[in-house]
Amino acid sequence: MVRFLDKLMNSDLICTFYDVILLPGKSCVEPREIDLRTKVSRNYSINIPFVSSPMDTVTGADLAIALARQGGLGVLHRNCTVEEQLEMAIRVKRAESMIIRDVIVVNPDISVGEAIRIMKEHNIHGLPVVDSKKRLVGIVTWRDVRYSNPNLKVKDVMTSKEKLIVATEEISIDEAKSLMQKHKVEKLPIIDENWRLKGLMTIKDLELRGKYPFASRDKEGRLLVGAAISPYDLNRAKKLDKYVDILVIDVAHFHNDNVIKSTKKIVKNVSADVIIGNLGTREGVLDSLSQIENVCGLRVGIGSGSICTTGMVTRVAAPTLYATAQAADALQELGLFEEIPIIADGGVKNAGDIALALAAGASAVMMGNIFAGTRESPGRLIAIEGKYYKEYYGMGSARARSKRMVLDRYSLPSKDIEEGVEGWVPYRGTVQDVVRELVAGLQASMGYVGARNIREMWSKAKFARLLPQGIQEIHPHNIYMPGERRQ
Ligand code: XMP
Repeated sequence: MVRFLDKLMNSDLICTFYDVILLPGKSCVEPREIDLRTKVSRNYSINIPFVSSPMDTVTGADLAIALARQGGLGVLHRNCTVEEQLEMAIRVKRAESMIIRDVIVVNPDISVGEAIRIMKEHNIHGLPVVDSKKRLVGIVTWRDVRYSNPNLKVKDVMTSKEKLIVATEEISIDEAKSLMQKHKVEKLPIIDENWRLKGLMTIKDLELRGKYPFASRDKEGRLLVGAAISPYDLNRAKKLDKYVDILVIDVAHFHNDNVIKSTKKIVKNVSADVIIGNLGTREGVLDSLSQIENVCGLRVGIGSGSICTTGMVTRVAAPTLYATAQAADALQELGLFEEIPIIADGGVKNAGDIALALAAGASAVMMGNIFAGTRESPGRLIAIEGKYYKEYYGMGSARARSKRMVLDRYSLPSKDIEEGVEGWVPYRGTVQDVVRELVAGLQASMGYVGARNIREMWSKAKFARLLPQGIQEIHPHNIYMPGERRQ
């Protein structure tokens, strides 16, 4: 027999980002020395615990590139065709690399006109020239073709093998840089002992590497990137798998039989790390992990997002902070806490909220609202009464659903309810500006706690609960602040 009154009276008391604070602890570390490096999935680490939401007003290629360069991770949205999402992934992977592996090459017998067309199509200024056995026979650059007769052959205008500056895979970055500087070349073909082309180094990539020393990179030196997928779209998952490091299941309620079954199939068919979510409860995590092997991360939190109306419309939610602690406990029970990282998703307003999420067991946080306000996000920029704003809408809003690619995130297409709103967020400057501010705030917070890194945050941070009135005292009060932006 169900005891309804007990069920009601013994229900969980939930703490959200608004309800708790962290207590100051003994500290022997200066904020600037605090290490924010963290695991974002089973096999990948990033240098700052910030991940961007897969939303079409948040993460396109520009934001993913900018965030990875700062040490975070972008998760490309899926409210587009497979081809469009692939194009974004390829752009991120091509943005920089130590050695470009998928080099665009030409044959010595094609015409100069054709070489010009290929350079324009791919927006590149130099093409290695290879014979039928993929052996390097020359390089043709924009300078060689620009004023040449388009009917000539590439072999007539290229720099041929004898004059080429080349290297083998063993060359270090510094050696490659000085070789290119010494010979005043911008591209360095990498070959094997039989002159077969193995890759290409460019001075631009090597300089970018120096410019962004904290960037999140794969083992080829390319920027790390994730992509959102529907649990039902195996085809998209397989295609993206060739280009992205991490696939993030993008569904509002992961703890569902059909979702779990189809995710299982995806995990078996891809080599990228698969992060599952969104999950909100300990049972959800235990159940999912008991059915799917090799899960590489958990995305947790349901209904806390700034654009969410799920909790309001359905009266069902698992606020991010609560979901994080629930997931962390489930992982501890399974002895998997150190292996499978938790990404706390939704409702993060500032560095303090990030600190709270980490203290509750998260390894990283996912942010939509904050990154939507950056220059690199895809949303439109508008001025309202002299202030700049960027467009931001929920993936369950009428606006996002009108593109019809994300309908399966919230409900079957026949169940037509909106679970998100659309609006504008204040323009915040570049991703770099935003990340700097968040890093400084988070390090200050961890400094107060006395945590030298995220692992210490898990063990040392102590929560205290505020009563509803108490929140007023930790905000500025009894002062008039013209143009104030309250958070
Ligand atoms: P913030 O607070 O950063 O949250 O804006 C972003 C997260 O919100 C989720 N999301 C939604 N949740 N309805 C929802 O209930 C929606 O329309 C919606 N769109 C995004 C998502 O998890 C995202 O990372």
